[in-house]
Formats: sequence, structure tokens, C-alpha cells
Amino acid sequence: MTKQLRRRKARIAAIWSGVLAGVAAAAAMTTVMAGSATAATTLGASAAERGRYFGTAVAANKLSESAYTTILNREFNSVTPENEMKIDATEPNQNQFNYANADRIVQHARSQGMQVRGHTLAWHSQQPGWMQNMSGTALRNAMLNHVTQVATHFRGQVVAWDVVNEAFADGSSGARRDSNLQRTGNDWIEAAFRAARAADPNAKLCYNDYNTDDWTHAKTQAVYRMVQDFKQRGVPIDCVGLQSHINNQSPYPSNYRTTLSSFAALGVDVQITELDIEGANATWYRNVVNDCLAVPRCNGITVWGIRDSDSWRASQTPLLFTGAGAKKPAYDAVLQALNNGVIPTTSPTTGQPTTPPPVTTPPPVTTPPPGPGGCTATVSLQSWTGGFVATVRVTAGSSGTNGWRVTMTLPSGATITNAWNTTRSGNTGTVNFTNVAYNGRLTAGQTTEFGFQGNGVGTGMTPTCTAT
Ligand code: XIL
Repeated sequence: MTKQLRRRKARIAAIWSGVLAGVAAAAAMTTVMAGSATAATTLGASAAERGRYFGTAVAANKLSESAYTTILNREFNSVTPENEMKIDATEPNQNQFNYANADRIVQHARSQGMQVRGHTLAWHSQQPGWMQNMSGTALRNAMLNHVTQVATHFRGQVVAWDVVNEAFADGSSGARRDSNLQRTGNDWIEAAFRAARAADPNAKLCYNDYNTDDWTHAKTQAVYRMVQDFKQRGVPIDCVGLQSHINNQSPYPSNYRTTLSSFAALGVDVQITELDIEGANATWYRNVVNDCLAVPRCNGITVWGIRDSDSWRASQTPLLFTGAGAKKPAYDAVLQALNNGVIPTTSPTTGQPTTPPPVTTPPPVTTPPPGPGGCTATVSLQSWTGGFVATVRVTAGSSGTNGWRVTMTLPSGATITNAWNTTRSGNTGTVNFTNVAYNGRLTAGQTTEFGFQGNGVGTGMTPTCTAT
């Protein structure tokens, strides 16, 4: 039997044992499975029984080490590339993309039936030199192009993206972190989220940060207010990632569960994305797992590496396996905490029966008649009371385009407040949208997307596209 088959069988067995356990639990009025014959023996299998994943950061250059992949394949059902999807790795020169190492990790994950978390599309750190030297509109456009290109490349293969990483300052200010991206305007985060949604409508879009574990900290509160604001204004955000690099200077906070449940109450999933704990304090590891299991929308935990020797903070020995690959006491604590968790009969996030992750359908797209030139355009709308976001997809005709122009008449009373991946001629009435530097040239049949946000009602717009 292949590993994949074994894994699939194990997963099906896990689902069935979940169903059976649910039935047994209902009958016996107890759902605690610890110590029973069915207790799972790996982190991934135990988390999966509870409708969650247990993942790790992976480095592409270690995939050829069998000691490494043995643990990876046995224990984990989710992976996050540790560095391979970062901006410096995927776009080393402007508009020249390199996905080789990230693709290796994605292929490995897929061959093992693991899911992939994408990390990260927009960040002040690990920027390639060309981006570090940019500012203003040029940087904003380069960032949006990066988000669009990378999210498009991995479309359908990444379950959740850390769209924006570490955008808030430490300390008591609650302010945004100063960075070249922040200096392009405060709306750079929402612009990145909209571009990511347009490029991969099915991926969960997360905001990810560190030092956001303690509910009383100014930084935690600031991130909370941003997510609340995004939800209120219809900015597409689905999840919050807490890195949770816990150490003796920023210890496990007793209000961690409050932090998780408070974010979840905003209507987003919560994921623990980069967990490591100085000295691998088993009690703190157990607390983190218990807190996640107690919050239905905390749907997964990722540790930031497999063995202590793999850790970015190796000297703190913060992980679950020794350098030699042995399970540490923290491993036992984590597995036991997982196995003690209630097995839901419905998925905590979706309320659906626990089956493999659901495939969501992209929003419906209305198809207008073809444009007069060598391109066509379609528009899809996300609306709320008083506003909307329009995503416009441009498709080149049989001769391709060097540039394009999309003309649309807004309904009376509708006003555009901002637009991305395009230059526009006005805010109301009939508006021309033209390509920007990086998305004008399309080969036959190729598509690109731009978008805009508006006040009022956006329904009934019919785009016409002209190749220029
Ligand atoms: C770290 C990697 O683990 C290191 O290999 C690299 O040298 C620096 O970045 N927050 C994040 C991660 O979001 O991307 C960082 O990963 C750790 C802190």
C-alpha cells in the first residue's frame, strides 16, 4: 500500500471513528476519548479527528533528508513553507518569478495529502533589494502585482494565505509599523487583501502577526480593531494568524483563550501559525492546544519547525522533537491534549458533518457580450448596504493585447472611492479603466483582474473592453 493510500485510509478511519465516537458520546453523555483504544498516535491524525489540522514549517532543502521527511510525513497534515513563498524568494527580480522551491514543498505536501498554508504575500521584511528601494505608487503597484501573481500561481493549492504579515508596531502605541509599504498609504493592507481575493477566491485570507497573544496588549487590540473594521466595511478577510513565538520574555498569557475567542467572535477563523516555546515548556504547549480546542473557530496549529535543530531559534530548543528526532515531553503533552479534546460530529467552522475540507464555489460571474476590440470583460460584485466591491476580469481575444481599456457606466448615485490594478478616468457616470504597466500585455486568452470599491449600489454595470 502506498503512503498516500495508507494516509487516506487512516483519515477515513479517523472520520469514522469520529462519527462512531460522536454516537457513543451522545449515548454515554461523555466525549472524552483519552486513554481509550482509539486514541490517535500522531498529531495530524488526532487534530483531524477534531476537525483541525496540525502543521509545521518546512524548508525545501530538507526534503531530501529522510530523517526529516519520516517525521514530517508521519506527524503533520499541514505545511507552511518557512521561507520559500516570501517575496525575496518568489520575485527575486521585479516581474521575474521563481517558484521552484515553493513548488517542491507544495508537491511534497500534495503527495502526502497534506494541506498548505501560504506565507506570506506582503511584508516589510525579507523583501528583495529592488522592492526595498521602492516607494509610493510604484511600490504600491509592485506589491499588488506581487500579490496577484503569486496568489494566481498557487490558486487552488493553498488553503490559507498570510496575505499581510507583521504590519503593527510593538509596544504601547497600537500604531502601524513604519515601513515602505505603510508609507504608500494606510489602505495598503486592505488593497493587498482585495488583490489576493481576486487572484484566488477560494483561499482563506489571513492577517498574521506576533506579540498578539496577550489580549490586554495594545498590539493585540490594534489588530482586533483592524479586523473588526475590515469585517464592517466588507474588506475580504477570513482569518487571523497568531504566530505565538512564546518565550520567557513574552510568556504564555493566561488570557490566551480570550484572545482566540475574541477574534473568532468577529467572524473570522483563528489559526496558531508559528508556534514555538522557549525550552518547549510542556505546560505552556498543553495550554495552547487546550485553548485552541476550546474555541470552535481555532481550526489549526502550526509549529515553526520539526526538530530543535530545524528551529530559527535553535538555541532555545523550542520544538517538539530533539535534533535526533526523538519525541520530547512537550510532544507527549500536545498529543495528549489533542486526544483529550472533544470530537465534534460537525465541523467547528462550517457546522457541516466532518468530511474532507469543503470546496467552495467562486462567486458567480455575469458574462456580457464580447467587447468591440480584442478583449472581453466580466464583472462580479460583492455588495453590502451602502457599498460594493467590483472585480473586473479582462480576457484577451485571439490576437492578445498590448494594453486595454474597459468602459463602464456606474448606476446613478454610485461613486468610486478607490481602485486597484488599473488607472481610472473618474468617479461617477461613465468611467474608463485602463491597464497599468504590469497588466496591459496579455497573450491570446490570458486574463487579468482589476477592481474598485464604491459607495451606493453597483448592480447592473456592463463592461465593454477595447484592446489598445
Ligand atoms: C523566519 C525563518 O524561520 C527563518 O529561517 C528566516 O531566516 C527568518 O524568518 N515571523 C515570521 C516568519 O512570519 O516568516 C519568520 O521565519 C519568523 C518570524
